[in-house]
Parts: sequence; C-alpha cells; structure tokens
Amino acid sequence: MVKKKTIKDFMRMKKEGEQVAWVTAYDYPMASFAEQAGMDMILVGDSLGMVVLGYSGTNPVTMEDCISHCQAVRRGAPNTFIVGDMPFMSYQKSDEDAVANAGRFIKEAGVDCIKLEGGMRVASRIKAITDAGIMVMGHIGLTPQSTGQLGGFKAQGRDVNSARNLIRDALAIQEAGAQMLLIEAVPPEVTGFIAKKLEIPVYSIGAGSCDGQLLICSDMLGLFQAFTPKFVKKYANLSQIIINAFKEYISEVESGVFPADEHMYHIQEPEEEFERMFKEFK
Ligand code: KIV
Repeated sequence: MVKKKTIKDFMRMKKEGEQVAWVTAYDYPMASFAEQAGMDMILVGDSLGMVVLGYSGTNPVTMEDCISHCQAVRRGAPNTFIVGDMPFMSYQKSDEDAVANAGRFIKEAGVDCIKLEGGMRVASRIKAITDAGIMVMGHIGLTPQSTGQLGGFKAQGRDVNSARNLIRDALAIQEAGAQMLLIEAVPPEVTGFIAKKLEIPVYSIGAGSCDGQLLICSDMLGLFQAFTPKFVKKYANLSQIIINAFKEYISEVESGVFPADEHMYHIQEPEEEFERMFKEFK
C-alpha cells in the first residue's frame, strides 16, 4: 500500500530537487489508476466542466459537482494527496463564503488541500481559509475562471510588465499563507524565477520546469477531443481505442458474434424440464 504524501514530503522534495508528478482525475476509476501508477497527488479540477460535463468553459461548474467528483476520487485513491478545486463564485464573494465552501471540501469529500485561482486579489481569501486550518494551493497565470478578462485561453507573463505582476501575485499568495502554488501557461524563465524565489513548492501546467508537473488526464490520455493545448504531451490515444472497441461491439451484436456461449448463464436443471415448463405458457 502506498503511503499518502503530506506537505512535509512536498517541502522536502522541493528542497532536494525531487520532481512531483500529478494529474487531474474526476472519478473513481481514473483516481484508482493514478494511485496504482504512483502519482504524487491528484487534482480534482473544475476542468471537469469541460472534459467530463461537456461545457465550453469551467464557470458553470457548481460546488455540488465538485464535492461529488472529489468524493468519487477520494474513494478511488484513498492513499493519495488530493487537491479540490474551488469552482467559480464559491470564493469570489467574501472571505466567509470562501471559508464555508473550502470547509465543505474537507468535511464532505476528505480532500487534503483546496486550490483557488488568482493572485493579490484573493490574498484575503487565502488568509481566511488557512486561518481556518485548511491547506491552500494558489493558481496564477492562465486562470480559466477569468478567461473573459484574459481574452481567452492565452499564455500569461510573456512581457515584462505581466511577468512582474505574476511575481507580485506569487509573493502575495505565499505571504497570505498558501502552502503550494500552481502556475499555468507562463514562460519557463518566469516560472523558474518564481520557483527559486518562493519557499513553497511551485508546480507547472504548461509553464516549464519548476518543482513538479501537472497535466489534465483527459488531455494526456487523448480522451478530450475538442482541443489540445500546446503544452500537452499525449501519452495515449484512448478516444480512438474506445471508438474502435465500440465499433467492434456494434458489429458483433449486429452479426450475432456477441454474446457467445461463454458470456451466458446456463440452466442448472435438465433441458426437458424447462421445455415442459415452457409448454405451460403455450
Ligand atoms: O481545473 C483544472 O483542472 C485546473 C488546471 C487547468 C490547472 O485548474
């Protein structure tokens, strides 16, 4: 049985230059596969809105969606560090709201940490949640909940001014008490600088090397077909494998090849007795 990692392990790994590998998962089987493979942690991202629920963005995702998927992931990966992603409008309104909703992730889904998007502007939320004893991971760079303001799913920090703002955001997040930071779609020069400057572990999704790497399971496994971000490496093409399997099944049902004898339950009394019983209904 694997031993669940804690923030102490992640701090030590940063200090010793040991990389953290993690993926998103949204349900029991994927979480179980991630744990069996030895993932260091799992994010139950609000990307579930796009890759599981079929929305065009993450904003329609509700607290109920997140809690229910976090519960399934916890059941599938009981010994893995799990980060629950706070959905749009679950922490934007007030510190009180943010603490109450972060608390639900812990109480109802048993996650180890929550993640929220934003820099300086969410510093008071991070402080309020950590003051409640809940571990927080910050998330800066391309923040999908504010793609309206960002002008779409666009890389961030590519000019000096925007990179400076990212560094200020990262420092504010650490100062507010977050114990980890995720940077999305930012040039590696900027991410590398932030990772060295911060004491807390800094992880990347599409932001070059730092203390560890995150990928969305549906992207890396080829399950999400709408688009593939530049930073994704596809380790499998499961959608094609699934479509081919479905096609083979349809064809075997149509031709009568399936079900075969080995897929059937057999009678446990002589056939003649069944024939006699069938006659009762003629
Ligand atoms: O929801 C999610 O999966 C995320 C990643 C894009 C970082 O927040």
